[in-house]
Amino acid sequence: MLRTTGIHTSFFRILIISYVLLSSVGYGSAGTTSSFIRSVWPSIDIPLDSEAFAIPKGHNAPQQVHITQGDYDGKAVIISWVTTDEPGPSKVQYGTSKEKYEFSAKGSMTNYTFYNYKSGYIHHCLVDGLEHETKYYYKIGMGDSAREFWFQTPPKIDPDSPYTYGIIGDLGQTYNSLSTLEHYMQSGGQAVLFVGDLSYADRYEYDDVGIRWDLWGRFVERSAAYQPWMWSVGNHEIEYMPKMGEVRPFKSYLHRYATPFLASKSSNPLWYAIRRASAHIIVLSSYSPFVKYTPQWKWLREELTRMDREKTPWLIVLMHCPIYNSNTAHFMEGESMRAAFESWFVQYKVDIIFSGHVHAYERSYRISNIHYNVSSGDPYPVPDKSAPIYITVGDGGNQEGLAGRFKVPQPDYSAFREASYGHSTLEIKNRTHALYHWNRNDDGKKMATDSVVFFNQYW
Ligand SMILES: *[C@@H]1O[C@H](CO)[C@@H](O)[C@H](O)[C@H]1NC(C)=O
Ligand SMILES: *[C@@H]1O[C@H](CO)[C@@H](O)[C@H](O)[C@H]1NC(C)=O
Ligand SMILES: *[C@@H]1O[C@H](CO)[C@@H](O)[C@H](O)[C@H]1NC(C)=O
Ligand SMILES: [Fe+2]
Repeated sequence: MLRTTGIHTSFFRILIISYVLLSSVGYGSAGTTSSFIRSVWPSIDIPLDSEAFAIPKGHNAPQQVHITQGDYDGKAVIISWVTTDEPGPSKVQYGTSKEKYEFSAKGSMTNYTFYNYKSGYIHHCLVDGLEHETKYYYKIGMGDSAREFWFQTPPKIDPDSPYTYGIIGDLGQTYNSLSTLEHYMQSGGQAVLFVGDLSYADRYEYDDVGIRWDLWGRFVERSAAYQPWMWSVGNHEIEYMPKMGEVRPFKSYLHRYATPFLASKSSNPLWYAIRRASAHIIVLSSYSPFVKYTPQWKWLREELTRMDREKTPWLIVLMHCPIYNSNTAHFMEGESMRAAFESWFVQYKVDIIFSGHVHAYERSYRISNIHYNVSSGDPYPVPDKSAPIYITVGDGGNQEGLAGRFKVPQPDYSAFREASYGHSTLEIKNRTHALYHWNRNDDGKKMATDSVVFFNQYW
């Protein structure tokens, strides 16, 4: 039963429709504010006992299985899972043909408490030395409750390696989240760039926080066990909850979601970079120090010099909080990071910056505001061929609902905006061309709502 019916649904629909109507009055001089109105499920989390969160059968069966890139160049994955009855081995068996596992790798186990909640046994195992462009099968767990999955490694680093990324943000665990996930899984995406705010477990209190993290792990397994999701953190991962005695930021996230930060010489799992096929992907943390002299600032300065656009022409940056956003929700929250990093983004000709945080979709033109200083009095963004395109995809469908009120008139920098749930895909074709789509949830898989060809900023 995925569809909730009854009086509550209708009420929420009317609420959401009226927000969208309000937001579509008055078109800006620049881009498009879509007037599309679509019905959505109410913004409530899927109940605990739903099939969407099903626990795999068997004693100590591995659950919440997910993978992420494990090195700098795509020849390794980190495989993570949780066992609940006993620790069990942190071992992965793998190979290139089904049911024949020639190799094995050993990882490590961790666990944590959150208020009175005790996590399961969380395993992370690095599987490295893989061949490019190869399908691998892997097996975790013991005896009858062992489980098998597979993944495909990316092509080797090459400027013309084609690759399709999905971009998902602010997902949560509602029926709208499920719709986003199911639509993404039909899109042909080969890896997910996740722009922060994973489970929204922090909307709960006490033991329910940990419980909702477990549910979310089981919820995304249908995709994340078979293709890598590249993680970045959002504000909902901070979980600073002194009332419950929990004051260590990112505690649940850091235990559960590994990143290959050491491979890019980062000192912290919250910011790192990977290279994959023809892309260099830089992941930043909006909620860690980033001003001049901080570790994140120093690391980014170094990473930008390590980049080689001859080998990886596509430069993509992920950060949770958008720098250009014309929604009334979270307006101006990205200003501090803009002040810190925008001139680098222009200098290094970043292709695209993906963000979440605002629960709507928005795409900018190539603009910058780097000439402004507090005494120049010239504070407006201007068209700039070297600047990135800024895309906000915070419309995964979490329980907080849509951010339906855009600023009126639409600012000149805003090319397209719409408050509906969905995800994006970026189909990199070669060193010069990439096809980009934003896909609204209730369209068929080939119906892209905002569709653009991006030309590479380097070639
Ligand atoms: C982790 O698991 C071990 C082994 O079961 C247990 O002794 C320990 O108390 C757990 N630690 C936490 C923080 O839950
Ligand atoms: C600030 O901007 C003004 C006008 O563009 C310029 O003359 C001045 O040198 C700038 N100051 C700094 C510190 O960059
Ligand atoms: C790159 O891909 C685009 C779109 O598919 C195509 O039109 C173009 O000819 C390709 N360029 C090269 C150099 O292969
Ligand atoms: Fe957020």
